[in-house]
Amino acid sequence: MSYNLLKGKRGIITGALNESSIAWFVAERAVEEGAEIVLTNAPISLRMGKINELAEKLNTIVIPADATSTDDIENLYTKASEHFGGEKIDFILHSIGMSPNVRKGREYNDLNYDFFQKSIDISALSFHKMMQVADKMDVLNEGASIVGLSYIAAQRAYPDYGDMSQAKAVLESIARSFGQKLGEKKGVRVNTISQSPTVTTAGQGITGFDVFVDFADMLSPLGNASALECADYVITLFSDLTRKVTMQNLFHDGGFSTAGISHAMVDRLSK
Ligand SMILES: NC(=O)c1ccc[n+]([C@@H]2O[C@H](COP(=O)([O-])OP(=O)(O)OC[C@H]3O[C@@H](n4cnc5c(N)ncnc54)[C@H](O)[C@@H]3O)[C@@H](O)[C@H]2O)c1
Repeated sequence: MSYNLLKGKRGIITGALNESSIAWFVAERAVEEGAEIVLTNAPISLRMGKINELAEKLNTIVIPADATSTDDIENLYTKASEHFGGEKIDFILHSIGMSPNVRKGREYNDLNYDFFQKSIDISALSFHKMMQVADKMDVLNEGASIVGLSYIAAQRAYPDYGDMSQAKAVLESIARSFGQKLGEKKGVRVNTISQSPTVTTAGQGITGFDVFVDFADMLSPLGNASALECADYVITLFSDLTRKVTMQNLFHDGGFSTAGISHAMVDRLSK
């Protein structure tokens, strides 16, 4: 259902790889809510994924950008501004994560440090870079909203989430520090959403991911939040209904983050 929550707004959506990507749902919902968007992803993901199909469906363009490259980000904003007829940007979704260590199955006590730096650069510093370049180029509208996607492994230890735990902790911290800066300067909001485990390409790269999903679902009184439900939450943060929400890490997880044990787990574990 559409409420026209983003009517007249323009935004950039990163990270839509295929129809299971959280960003894919956000892009579809943003357009449904009346926004104009441009899509972007790393050049290699453009070749592997289905983003062009999404662009066609939503009648928009794809601007390739490796989010670790400030040159690519500059080009992204220049082209996006052209597409928007010189108008500024009202929202940005950062939906980017990748750890070479996790992808190659490296144990936490056997990490490759070049990979570790890549994980942090791709999954966290890219968030800073997108905001720093946006600030320097002055492409953000007054009151714009920037959202990054996080996971509870930033706060708790998970055996196979590897160096992504550190990347998410950095991501959440950047939201606070840059949120303060951009808030004072332009009333811009910056938040992260800590989402339930969700079956996507990035999610499935983690060993034992199906167990993460089942465990979280069993513990959460409302059950796991789906990618579409995550997109709905992102839309509220892009909208004018949340103008004073900033510098937060917002759990969108069916109650998982504050649940101790559930009846379902007691039943499952009872001898
Ligand atoms: N799936 C989950 O369980 C889950 C849970 C909480 C948070 N998240 C986070 O949600 C975000 C989106 O992930 P997803 O689950 O939709 O998976 P996904 O694999 O569909 O999306 C990850 C995206 O990151 C992009 N990317 C990787 N390297 C890049 C680079 N250098 N430059 C630009 N883009 C790059 C990929 O192309 C891909 O589109 C990630 O930050 C992820 O950590 C996912």
